[in-house]
Amino acid sequence: MGEVERTASAFPTAIGANAPAMDMTQMLFNPFLPEVHADPYPHYRRLRETEPIHQPFPGAFMLSRHRDVVPLLRSPNVSSDRRKSPMYDLFLQSLPDPERFQNIPPSMLFLDPPDHTRLRGLVNKAFTARVVDSMRPRVQAIVDGILDEVGERGSLDIVADLAYPIPVTVICDLFGVPNEDRAQVKRWSLDLIYTLDPLVAGDRLEKAAEAGMAFREYLRGLIADRRSQHGDGFLSALIQAEEEGERLTDEEIVSMCVLLLIAGHETTSGLIGNGMLALGRHPDELRRLREVLTEDPQAIRPAVEELLRFDAPVQLTGRLVLEPIDVDGVRIEPGNDVITLLGGANRDPEVFEDPERLDVTRKTNHHVSFGGGIHFCLGAPLARVEGQIAIGELVRRFPSLEIDTETAQLRDTVTLRGLTSLPAAV
Ligand code: HEM
Repeated sequence: MGEVERTASAFPTAIGANAPAMDMTQMLFNPFLPEVHADPYPHYRRLRETEPIHQPFPGAFMLSRHRDVVPLLRSPNVSSDRRKSPMYDLFLQSLPDPERFQNIPPSMLFLDPPDHTRLRGLVNKAFTARVVDSMRPRVQAIVDGILDEVGERGSLDIVADLAYPIPVTVICDLFGVPNEDRAQVKRWSLDLIYTLDPLVAGDRLEKAAEAGMAFREYLRGLIADRRSQHGDGFLSALIQAEEEGERLTDEEIVSMCVLLLIAGHETTSGLIGNGMLALGRHPDELRRLREVLTEDPQAIRPAVEELLRFDAPVQLTGRLVLEPIDVDGVRIEPGNDVITLLGGANRDPEVFEDPERLDVTRKTNHHVSFGGGIHFCLGAPLARVEGQIAIGELVRRFPSLEIDTETAQLRDTVTLRGLTSLPAAV
């Protein structure tokens, strides 16, 4: 099973270790309750207003205000490396094969400097805004291909037909995955996303473990192939970086690729799906967006930022405290986990005017949907390009688009917020 948790839960030590012993129905904020899951925003508001530095159980804190979340993510006194947690040994003991788990190198998302700095430095170049801008024509071609067909058919599922295929196709392009393997990569990716959630049911975890092993094995083959061919793609560049003395092992490359696939797939689908759902629920804003786009195609940029703020695809992330920290006068000791509620910070009235309102032309928008600090989303420029083209084209091309918000299906994950289905007629 080990493959999985290496790419896994933002805070396995906190909820994973403590949750079974506690009565979750008593929690001030319990993201697993169906009504909270369906609409967490009133609950974030209550937290911000009543207990902004909330302790759901001993060993964990939850932050919901922008002014607390941002400094925490930037603090040098916290860690993303779960191996440094006092609970880590307990966690290892709970695994059927701890040794195997320990042999898998963690991806950079779960590392601190200097390892994090080294790994991020190696891939940064491939994801800068400039490089990603050069990918616009390819993303446009993917979206056009899908929407041409939709136009003929008259309907689509915004999630299954548009939001899912775009990011996985782009990542497969990047890795040089042959066409015939892409459906398989997509299936693995869908199974793997459950590993990002704090509590995962056994059968899901097992499926995810199998997908993780199969995908890693597949990537090893792809890397061996590139090694023999000396190509100039993304994988070849990573291999060469290793050969230039950067010490990136094959297993590190594999972990990097698994991270890029998982981190970019469900999240970007979430942006497109949640964004279109929000527009479907606010038809006036959908109309406004269509109008402003006819005058200025660049208006899609602030609109996508607003959709990211309004219903963030990543709702929370966690850090382990290494040195004492002070959050608005509350001292948090080493060994505690701190969960930052990104979705809560995004609706903070201290930072956003009329925060519960969707405003596709919102001017200043310091949302935290891409996190902050050294782990700030590496793929943000790419996600933005994909979101802008997909949402922009859908709105522009189909003036009588009808989004069936009533039958939208919410995915049952808590860290990642997204849909499994959003039918629409064009
Ligand atoms: C709308 C889409 C996306 C959202 C909302 C999103 C959100 C995030 C967030 C919140 C983090 C920080 C997690 C933390 O601090 O614990 C993160 C990190 C990361 N994201 Fe994204 N992401 C998106 C798309 C992508 C894409 C398309 C890619 C790559 C293809 C990507 C790759 C990464 C990587 C590699 C990291 C780890 C960075 C590091 O540890 O330094 N993401 N993302």
